[in-house]
Amino acid sequence: DGRPIDFQVADLALAPAGRHEIRLAEHEMPGLMALRAEYGDAQPLAGARIAGSLHMTVQTAVLIETLTALGARVRWASCNIFSTQDAAAAAVVVGRDGTVDAPAGSPVFAWKGETLEEYWECAERIFDWGSDADGNPVGPNMILDDGGDATMLVLKGVEFEKAGAVPAVHAEDSEEYALVLELLRRSLASDPQRWTRIAAGIRGVSEETTTGVHRLVEFHRAGVLPFPAINVNDAVTKSKFDNKYGTRHSLIDGINRATDVLIGGKVALVAGYGDVGKGCAESLRGQGARVLVTEVDPICALQAAMDGYQVVRLDDVVGEVDIFVTATGNKDVVMASHMARMKHQAIVGNIGHFDNEIDIAGLAKVPGVERVEIKPQVHEWRFPAADGRPAHSIIVLSEGRLLNLGNATGHPSFVMSNSFSNQTIAQIELFTRGADYPIGVHVLPKHLDEKVARLHLDALGAKLTELTKSQADYIGVDVAGPYKPDAYRY
Ligand code: NAI
Repeated sequence: DGRPIDFQVADLALAPAGRHEIRLAEHEMPGLMALRAEYGDAQPLAGARIAGSLHMTVQTAVLIETLTALGARVRWASCNIFSTQDAAAAAVVVGRDGTVDAPAGSPVFAWKGETLEEYWECAERIFDWGSDADGNPVGPNMILDDGGDATMLVLKGVEFEKAGAVPAVHAEDSEEYALVLELLRRSLASDPQRWTRIAAGIRGVSEETTTGVHRLVEFHRAGVLPFPAINVNDAVTKSKFDNKYGTRHSLIDGINRATDVLIGGKVALVAGYGDVGKGCAESLRGQGARVLVTEVDPICALQAAMDGYQVVRLDDVVGEVDIFVTATGNKDVVMASHMARMKHQAIVGNIGHFDNEIDIAGLAKVPGVERVEIKPQVHEWRFPAADGRPAHSIIVLSEGRLLNLGNATGHPSFVMSNSFSNQTIAQIELFTRGADYPIGVHVLPKHLDEKVARLHLDALGAKLTELTKSQADYIGVDVAGPYKPDAYRY
């Protein structure tokens, strides 16, 4: 529209470096590039205004430029304070055709190492699309979310606007929730219908991860989800690939870049043996660690045992483990009382979406404990001698936030091409075929899941066998798929 784009990133001068990385990533993201080729002319996202909240990495840059190649406009924030890759963020702002002096890409509000306050300011800015010719405020009409913070901000805003007031901060509220309440209090004072108006304009949200889907389901159960949602996480080509093979790559990448400790021969413990835990355990075993697993679900515990991991309780082994990784999506998994009993220089990291798996707040309250920054996102916590135990230290990665994105660069492009092809398809579905998706939380139809997988086979030299018509009839499927019933678990 001719106006200069607004943005907030670390340093636009990083854009040329980011552009090189994006260019190489495009080759590794055949799904996204195939979608650009398929839909580039039709422009199915023309008119879409997407508020995006997802780790601002190189791979996300390729996603953003795919959405805009299909006609969308976006405003983007990261969904974590440590996960932004500053060069990628700069390159998206500058765009393919812009220059550092005259950026012509998409607005991004993200940098590595935001404060929580800055994080929520960035989240707010993805909803601010200026005003139309008559001076009426414009909002997004789509959300693309990872972890549900963007959606949560809208729904909390609506809740408090309906109530006419933002509740006071309670003692049990986290520091972060207090910031959200403060932001919404300011918003309510200046524009009492802002979030209600924004919510009414949104056609749908596509959600990237397990934890965000969990939040959407809760919102829907409570009757407050005002628009349809697509659960991208539970596309098979997302959770059975990104969560598993992605973490198999990026978990040890994060541990290595943070500590460079030899993993072989060490005892590692993975809390949670879901999709992410399975990738983490394999990753650590691949390096020669002896891997222990904790689980609450007997099915996943049995899987871990049959995969050859010892299934243990944290309390029983806490003093024997060298590397702890939480992957549960749950809270209060590794507590300060555990950390007090760990081996000297044990490494403690989380790869689940939120930082409440490890009790960092409790750690800070241990009498006499001292925090030493080794480098950004790597901290030594020194415990004084206590309860007959000598003084010891532990190494905490990314302050308990997801370490693969905080200490390394997250999942590599090829696996994210699967996830983000689902994201792109979900945005097209919700934007162009909204009537097919009533309010609720939906997964993409299986033929689209199979399509995403198909788009990635050639790049790996995989040759798919085709069913004959009579074989297809014999097993009761169509020659062109879908090949499995919905209940099949892969
Ligand atoms: P999942 O639901 O498949 O697995 C979580 C497992 O943890 C379940 O099997 C559950 O029984 C177990 N669990 C729950 N509470 C536990 C406890 N107290 N102790 C031990 N085990 C417990 O979920 P998924 O897909 O593996 O995701 C896990 C987390 O990782 C989520 O927060 C998700 O959003 C996040 N995620 C992070 C990624 C990353 O790149 N860092 C990528 C994908 C997901």
